[in-house]
Amino acid sequence: MPEQRKENIFTKFKNMPINSTPKTIFVAVVLCLFCSMIVSFAAVKLKVLQQANKIRDKQINILQVAGIYYEGIDVEESFSSFEPRIVDINEGVFTDRFNPKDFDDAKAASDPMLSIELTDDPASIGRRSNFATVYLLKNKDQSIDKIILPIYGYGLWSTLYGFVALEEDGNEIFGLQFYQHAETPGLGGEVDNPKWKSQWAGKKIRNPEGDLMIQVAKTADAKEYHVDAIAGATLTSNGVHNLVRFWLGESGFNKFLTNFKNGTM
Ligand SMILES: Cc1cc2nc3c(=O)[nH]c(=O)nc-3n(C[C@H](O)[C@H](O)[C@H](O)COP(=O)(O)O)c2cc1C
Repeated sequence: MPEQRKENIFTKFKNMPINSTPKTIFVAVVLCLFCSMIVSFAAVKLKVLQQANKIRDKQINILQVAGIYYEGIDVEESFSSFEPRIVDINEGVFTDRFNPKDFDDAKAASDPMLSIELTDDPASIGRRSNFATVYLLKNKDQSIDKIILPIYGYGLWSTLYGFVALEEDGNEIFGLQFYQHAETPGLGGEVDNPKWKSQWAGKKIRNPEGDLMIQVAKTADAKEYHVDAIAGATLTSNGVHNLVRFWLGESGFNKFLTNFKNGTM
């Protein structure tokens, strides 16, 4: 009897006119389910691709800041000339506690077990990871050519994420660039302008007395430590000034760079 009832409902539905309300709802539901399946499938498939692109983009940025990127380069192969190492920021030494291949700097920065809450926070980042991935570019004889350090901090509208490349003495800047930010194009976005970026090359971080001197400012105290603030974007420039000094200062990589310079690691 229930079987016959089911058949009746089915036959009744089948015999309804094509533009009847139940049939319209049925088509809409099936269509929604079908579309959501396609969207879910695409999201899952694209996530892998997006992550791969993100990694590649980061690698390109590291190659660029180290001055060895050019159009058509095999990114993966060229990137293999860098040795990624994890730095214990508090101790200022390399650590093998984590595998650089799996280490997630962003996750570590929000993990209370791996990071500290900042009381003095000029870069406006809230917490700072105790560990960071740095990239060593080596010469053929295995001596260090350049050290690439990750840096980030707040500008006017957004957190700017980037890298600073240092010469092997750990005190001279080779280059600086951001790979992610949301500052206004033409204003704060001028941090991406090659002309502005080129100013960083050759600037010194500290004076011979060891004082932190590097600055982004409208007027220069001493040219060798000075990068011009971007006209019309003083607030982003201040942000860059603060974040660069934070990461190269005592709460950032200073201990590591001092140990590195002294060869005590
Ligand atoms: C729509 C809009 C977007 C702006 N974007 C930025 C920005 O990305 N970075 C920045 O420093 N200033 C930006 N400013 C300008 C700041 O409000 C501020 O005027 C400027 O930083 C002061 O720089 P100045 O002293 O060099 O003129 C923006 C202003 C407006 C109206």
